[in-house]
Amino acid sequence: MASNATKVFVPADTTARSMGADRVAAAVVTEAERRGERIDLVRNGSRGLYWLEPLVEVDAGGTRVAYGPISPEDVPGLFEAGFLGAGKHPRALGETEAIPYLARQSRLTFARVGLTEPLSIEDYRAHGGFRGLGNAIGLSGREIVDIVTESGLRGRGGAAFPTGIKWNTVLNTPSAQKYVVCNADEGDSGTFADRMIMESDPYVLIEGMTIAGLAVGATQGYVYIRAEYPLAIRRMREAIERAEAAGYVGERVMGGDRAFRLEVREAAGAYICGEETSLLESLEGKRGVIRFRPPLPAVKGLFGLPTVVNNVISLATVPIILDKGAGFYKDFGTGRSRGTLTVQLAGNVKQGGLVEIAFGHTLSELLYDFGGGSATGRPIRAVQAGGPLGAYMHVSQFDTPLDYEAFAAIGAMIGHGGLVVFDDTVDMGQQARFAMEFCAVESCGKCTPCRIGAVRGVEVVDRILDGVDEAANLTLLRELCDTMVAGSLCALGGMAPFPVLSILEHFPEDLRSRQEARAVGEVA
Ligand SMILES: Cc1cc2nc3c(=O)[nH]c(=O)nc-3n(C[C@H](O)[C@H](O)[C@H](O)COP(=O)(O)O)c2cc1C
Ligand code: SF4
Repeated sequence: MASNATKVFVPADTTARSMGADRVAAAVVTEAERRGERIDLVRNGSRGLYWLEPLVEVDAGGTRVAYGPISPEDVPGLFEAGFLGAGKHPRALGETEAIPYLARQSRLTFARVGLTEPLSIEDYRAHGGFRGLGNAIGLSGREIVDIVTESGLRGRGGAAFPTGIKWNTVLNTPSAQKYVVCNADEGDSGTFADRMIMESDPYVLIEGMTIAGLAVGATQGYVYIRAEYPLAIRRMREAIERAEAAGYVGERVMGGDRAFRLEVREAAGAYICGEETSLLESLEGKRGVIRFRPPLPAVKGLFGLPTVVNNVISLATVPIILDKGAGFYKDFGTGRSRGTLTVQLAGNVKQGGLVEIAFGHTLSELLYDFGGGSATGRPIRAVQAGGPLGAYMHVSQFDTPLDYEAFAAIGAMIGHGGLVVFDDTVDMGQQARFAMEFCAVESCGKCTPCRIGAVRGVEVVDRILDGVDEAANLTLLRELCDTMVAGSLCALGGMAPFPVLSILEHFPEDLRSRQEARAVGEVA
């Protein structure tokens, strides 16, 4: 590209594209040509301010300024307003980094997302990429595991298990072959952080997986990506090819004597395939069904061999820890929840998007300061945190800090960081029914409490809502929930009752006969 051409950024991730970013990019090129303006169009990733997509940025003398949301029809007006020189326009948002939604975040894992061109290795390196791997290459597996343990990093896929302890088990299990598997099945409702990383900063995941391989002595890695993410699959494949050509993965990682090969596998399209043992079955080419534990995957995982299974965000956080040190990472957060959490604001929320902040902020800050309240402008009534198996949180709980233990203490969970917001028009009786229905549809069928219990759960909720033996069926629903929690083989059946129990506790007025509710005018 010609020198002194102005850099214009139009995101090319799935969210921005679904909002028309490709047409905006084409309009920018056409208009620049028509006016004889020299531009260098960069297709970056989204900054995660989804309500402003497509968000167009311009590099104005080293500072990025933003305009959004922009439609193709807005583009001639942008040029007219002199946006290449940061000119004033009704859609002007000022300096991108100063937009409060971004300025208040602590982006560590997402440090490069939206800044760089996703597939450019030069851009990745210019923004601190591969420094963590560069440090790791000079360390023993034990030293790397110790640093990750010391950082306090816990798995971001749902269970919040300490990453260093898992890696330690794999390191200490002797085997001629070990594996690193990245869980990119991202099945939780309202979540998109994994997709953003893979589409917008794929090398950080490759770097994290390679460091994991060096740490535990694994020479082969697989990224198991949900099939509904075709762009993420393409980007990861392309990025792996380029990283291999540049010597960061492959037979000799960074010219050393250690190998780490990486491949992408398309997932099988079932929620249960996100559970790590089902995932391993699926990776082996079988139906995604839960395995009994023990043995743990860390001891007997893929093809019966020691395997690290980690979520995308867990692995993508490892490079900054190896780059800046365990102490740097650990300084963020609260209690036993160290570092940052990538919150995904979704559902009925005005300013949906990605917020990476240190643990310890309250739910209320997320919902109102970042989210701006509900999209409909009505009061927020409930928030489901942690995916479809997470409790519905009541307004009285909105001061809870984002901290694994604080959430667990009130029967809720942070999980993968998804927050799905509902306003006061939500029918929590239907949400209770949905929790059981979801479990019935997604059950792998291996154990009875889940396979049969979830189907019976839908029937019992229907009977309550229809006013059939209401009191007896409410007791039965509680007993059924207890049975599923205590008797299910995995967390799908074991946690599906949590949303139902939270509704019984905090929204009991919705889980009762429709006739009765109609009589008092609460249901249309
Ligand atoms: C029903 C079910 C679905 C799950 N889906 C996912 C998923 O989509 N992505 C994920 O990373 N973990 C998921 N998990 C958690 C994984 O089993 C496992 O704990 C995780 O991949 C470990 O990685 P981490 O320690 O980095 O979190 C799921 C668990 C259950 C019980
Ligand atoms: S709880 Fe459900 S998903 Fe889990 S093993 Fe049992 S039947 Fe399968």
